Amino acid sequence: MLARPVRVVVLLSGRGSNFRAIAEAGLPIEVVAVVSNRPDAGGLDYARSRGIPAIALDHKAHPDREAYDVLLADEIERHRPDLVVLAGYMRILSTAFIARFEDRLLNIHPSLLPSFPGLRTHERALDEGVKVHGCTVHFVTPQLDHGPIVVQAAVPVRADDTPQTLAARVLEQEHRIYPLAVRWFAEGRLVKNHGRVNLKDDPASQSVLSTGA
Ligand code: GAR
Repeated sequence: MLARPVRVVVLLSGRGSNFRAIAEAGLPIEVVAVVSNRPDAGGLDYARSRGIPAIALDHKAHPDREAYDVLLADEIERHRPDLVVLAGYMRILSTAFIARFEDRLLNIHPSLLPSFPGLRTHERALDEGVKVHGCTVHFVTPQLDHGPIVVQAAVPVRADDTPQTLAARVLEQEHRIYPLAVRWFAEGRLVKNHGRVNLKDDPASQSVLSTGA
């Protein structure tokens, strides 16, 4: 564990409820900047309301993805992060970007990976008739919505669920597991071993959380 708060840069594209959950969880971190590819992202307003530097880098002004990602990475590095948190960042990141932040880049995804990578996860889970759905926090690798899993929460699917009702219950769990994963990272407790992440000092591993809800 570092003697100072862990410096976190958050990347987001939308309302930023996961960022908010992390910011309000009393973690041993300092969110040193929030960066969005969408200037109108609600998460930027929340950052401003807390006095956190909020930076919009509009991807539409930079049609070349690789070039945009270099700008984005340079902006992030200016803030000297120990950890970069993707909190609803809805753009595919280039391999070069991911390499620059390897081992300090976390993402949350609204499914139990490796099931349902990509978009419309709740709708697809209902279409497949799965009985258990959920969310995953993982380290980012170049393969989309893939990479060593830190923690997952399971959410039972109800017979009368719609994508919206299911999304709402999954989001509650996202707000529980993302702060937990960031805490573990900040405490230096995440140990990667052959593509798996183990939690130091926890032989029973708490990293699967069942909601029972
Ligand atoms: C969350 O449900 C997050 O899991 C998802 O976007 C939402 C952002 O909500 N992320 C992805 O789908 C990434 N592949 P928020 O802005 O309220 O945190």
